[in-house]
Amino acid sequence: MSATATTATTTTTTATATATTASQLASQRRSSSLTEAIREDPRSFRILTGDRPTGPLHIGHYFGTLQNRVRLQDTGVELMVLVADLQAITDRESPAGLRQDTVRLVADYLAVGVDPAISTIFAHSQVEALNQLMLPFLSLVSVAEIQRNPTVKEEITAAGAAGLNGLMFTYPVHQAADILFCHANLVPVGRDQLPHLEVTRTIARRFNERYSPAAPYFPEPDALLSTAPLLLGLDGTKMGKSRHNAIPLDASADETARLIKAARTDSDRRITFEPDRRPAVASLLTIAALCREESPEQIAEQIADAGAARLKAVVTEAVNERFAPIRARRAEVAADPGYLRAVLADGNDRARAIAATTLARVRELMHQVY
Ligand code: TRP
Repeated sequence: MSATATTATTTTTTATATATTASQLASQRRSSSLTEAIREDPRSFRILTGDRPTGPLHIGHYFGTLQNRVRLQDTGVELMVLVADLQAITDRESPAGLRQDTVRLVADYLAVGVDPAISTIFAHSQVEALNQLMLPFLSLVSVAEIQRNPTVKEEITAAGAAGLNGLMFTYPVHQAADILFCHANLVPVGRDQLPHLEVTRTIARRFNERYSPAAPYFPEPDALLSTAPLLLGLDGTKMGKSRHNAIPLDASADETARLIKAARTDSDRRITFEPDRRPAVASLLTIAALCREESPEQIAEQIADAGAARLKAVVTEAVNERFAPIRARRAEVAADPGYLRAVLADGNDRARAIAATTLARVRELMHQVY
């Protein structure tokens, strides 16, 4: 693959981490021209994306990004999937459960169709050279720039500046190392991750200017925004891995029924799709619509005056039907932990080989070969 193959990467963007709306618009525009470029030449793209092992993946992840990753893999785009286990330590105080969460994530990836024969699943704690890139990268951004990053700002608000640890503070720079070590030029992310990607692009650009002006060494990767609507959790607030308001991919049919039965709705018997006025009902309709590949309005019309109980029955059936094959596959791979570990070990080896090559070249470019 070639780092400069995407025409869209040359599109100029004046977006900064603070001008979120402008940056989002620019990314959206880039995303649609990218889709075109990917269709024309999938093999010129390498995707790096990943998740923190902080809990089971849920159907929001599936429609938001997992499905998209697998589709791209299946069209010939190279896929690298990262278990961000070093970033997971920013918000947990004990290592208990981390190993299990990591292996579970691997099972989730395989269940949704990531094919370890052609794609790479790895954990970034196992790829030393990737992490080493963080040192030169840290020198390319100012503390003020990191402080302006909205995700970091949120953490500062939540934990207070004194409660924010250094790794959390430098998270966007670490993420740049995750993406650039393998020269990924495409990062499918949610909107909330766009400011991080902007940091990655800045670091790539500055590295190239300073150390490799004649021929840019790192690509400036593009975000690929999901077109799927954001799903709300079953309590009507943001769906989150650790918020206990999501339907995990590996939930059983009965658990799914129970979770959906407890979902928040309203007392209006007539079911209509009105995201602004009835967000909880609209989100349930959206879940059923995504599962059945219909529109939420169609589902609402089918339910009409039958009320929330019927709505929940419809959503439960739609989820259980759609995820039955994924759940079956997940049960199969989860029953063989040796296989899961072997998949991860193999991915780690591949990532290490790539990272070693990159680090060797970075040392040359930085005149640190003695
Ligand atoms: N920050 C992402 C999250 O919180 C996880 C992640 C780590 C990631 N490194 C990445 C995503 C690189 C995309 C690319 O979910």
